[in-house]
Amino acid sequence: MITEIFRLAEGQEVEKIRRAAEIIRAGGLVAFPTETVYGLGSDALREEAAAKIYAAKGRPSDNPLIAHIADRSALYELAACVPDWAEGLADAFWPGPLTLVFPKKPIVPDGTTGGLKTVAVRMPAHETARKLIRAAGVPIAAPSANTSGRPSPTTAFHVLEDMDGKIDCILDGGDAGFGLESTIIDATGPVPVILRPGYISAEMVREIVGKVETDRAAEQPLGSGEMPKAPGMKYRHYAPKAKLVIVAGKEAAVTDKINEMTAEQEALGIPCGVICARETAPCYHCTNKKIIGSRQHQETIAHNLYAVLRQFDEENTGMIFSESFEGGQLGQAIMNRLKKAAGYHIIQV
Ligand code: TXA
Ligand code: MG
Repeated sequence: MITEIFRLAEGQEVEKIRRAAEIIRAGGLVAFPTETVYGLGSDALREEAAAKIYAAKGRPSDNPLIAHIADRSALYELAACVPDWAEGLADAFWPGPLTLVFPKKPIVPDGTTGGLKTVAVRMPAHETARKLIRAAGVPIAAPSANTSGRPSPTTAFHVLEDMDGKIDCILDGGDAGFGLESTIIDATGPVPVILRPGYISAEMVREIVGKVETDRAAEQPLGSGEMPKAPGMKYRHYAPKAKLVIVAGKEAAVTDKINEMTAEQEALGIPCGVICARETAPCYHCTNKKIIGSRQHQETIAHNLYAVLRQFDEENTGMIFSESFEGGQLGQAIMNRLKKAAGYHIIQV
């Protein structure tokens, strides 16, 4: 299959989105930009279309897909029961980087939900995504458009790296904004439970609903036999090829420790890399240090995380040492991805 790239240059947008929507309606696969990461879309109501997504990504079939909608009315076609507090969250954060999980209606095929009796629904804020969903006239099932186990794509080029020849087309809308996937909240119980942290933080949810819980799997590795509520959280996602170690603690102790460890590894002939903030970058001796963003602007760190991990993959780095980026509105989301990429290997200094 030849993967076509539709660049969304001015004046051509309507026509390109119309062609992409036709592909979705015909049961094909279209990668498209959202405000979080690029998604890999197909008709959420067709079992065989979802099967194509799993094949292209090499994704385990028990890992359910998020149904993307453009209008609130579509929610009630998919979800069997929407509690008042979830309506409140949708009012506050849709369109936006929030996914809500509800009991599903029979119209949603088991192929889309990985056999679960619930369905995850999100209304993206990205204009192109919403125009595509409206033009297709169906909800669009879309996981992140990466090969399973690779960092999520934040540019059309990342999508092409993973999906060339496997999908029908890519709508190239430039950089994805936020850079990390949406916050997922279980709305099947009495209280909102965060299954995956994202831009919409626990604090923001608490402000609307008054209460919020976080699933253990969002913060720490589970014991053997334990199952996370979001099946995808059990996989070692976002894994760079290199071994990644996070070093946490006071700034001076962290930079010292990372300098010591890179020197040790490089003496053994292992190519090393460092992930650091702009503020501390001058402290490192390693020649391959990558500035992920600024601690003064946490959103730059979220935005660049996956791209930096992909760069290290291309360079065949053997060992990566990263600073820790806890705290603030986005700390939980950033550290959830970084800790998983590190296989929870953290050195406290
Ligand atoms: O920002 C995002 O959410 C992006 C963009 C494309 O919208 N999508 C995304 O999809 O991150 P994906 O497939 O990479 O991650 C979906 C996560 C997985 O961890 C999956 O297990 C969980 O959502 N999920 C989907 N349906 C679920 C359900 N019914 N119950 C619990 N978890 C669910
Ligand atoms: Mg994903």
